[in-house]
Amino acid sequence: MITRLEARDFCCLLHTTQDLGRFHVLIGPNASGKSTFLDAIAFLGHLVSDGPEEAVARRTQNFHDLVWERSESSFSLAIELAIPAELTEVHGRRFETVRYEVVLGLHPQSGEISLFSETVSLAPGGARVVHKTPADNDVFTSEIPADDWTSTFALGPSQSALANLPHDTTKFPIATWLKDVLRGGIHSLSLSSPRLRRASPPGRSRRHLLSDGSNSRGWWPSSSNTTLNGSTDGSRICAQHCPISKASVASNGRTTGTAI
Ligand SMILES: Nc1ncnc2c1ncn2[C@@H]1O[C@H](COP(=O)(O)OP(=O)(O)OP(=O)(O)O)[C@@H](O)[C@H]1O
Ligand SMILES: [Mg+2]
Repeated sequence: MITRLEARDFCCLLHTTQDLGRFHVLIGPNASGKSTFLDAIAFLGHLVSDGPEEAVARRTQNFHDLVWERSESSFSLAIELAIPAELTEVHGRRFETVRYEVVLGLHPQSGEISLFSETVSLAPGGARVVHKTPADNDVFTSEIPADDWTSTFALGPSQSALANLPHDTTKFPIATWLKDVLRGGIHSLSLSSPRLRRASPPGRSRRHLLSDGSNSRGWWPSSSNTTLNGSTDGSRICAQHCPISKASVASNGRTTGTAI
């Protein structure tokens, strides 16, 4: 589960830090940044799947379009996820969350889209598993403390270090899981009212919400309503008892709730 997203200078998100729970509905006027918030997560997936250049090219031909008001030369994104129970215990140490953070910009000499820094770290403790340094070294350190295993490559600023994580799930169980989650990307839901109204048959998976919402019984949480922290706009992120039906309807008539 994603527990936190941070964006600095990414499109319309000047400085956004948002803690996340199991279910949210994004509500806000048109062009208030709802899609951009989700795209920050998708961007990290594209970065790990296809590399920085392709991740940018999917969105624009001009890197500056992705930087807040085109005023800066770089942007940063960070995501934190709760580590699944089966991976939290690593040889006597207990890690609860994994954090992935990147800074992207144009290389001062070559002008190429570059990863200025990239880090995967584990909490509590902050152990760095993957780290691309400003000197363009990519350092991989085993998640198993007793291993005392570190390896350094020089992949260069145009390649993601996480994308090139060594294929060794004994040394990198959590980073490998993180990479797979990010590569899985964002899944869109198209809720079907007739199917939602039907009784959910027994045996339907509860682990993942099906894209038509037909197994949605038991998914909706019961409380809380929070405001998108640090957002430069008026959009809200909230968990409500009955999500989409209570989400705002945009001026063009579209329902703007989005499950994440
Ligand atoms: N580099 C940038 N700097 C500042 N603002 C930007 C930048 N790139 C795009 N924007 C603005 O961000 C907004 C895009 O918001 P977004 O598409 O995320 O809104 P939305 O809430 O999903 O809207 P809708 O309800 O129409 O789907 C637009 O106002 C766009 O002009
Ligand atoms: Mg949108």
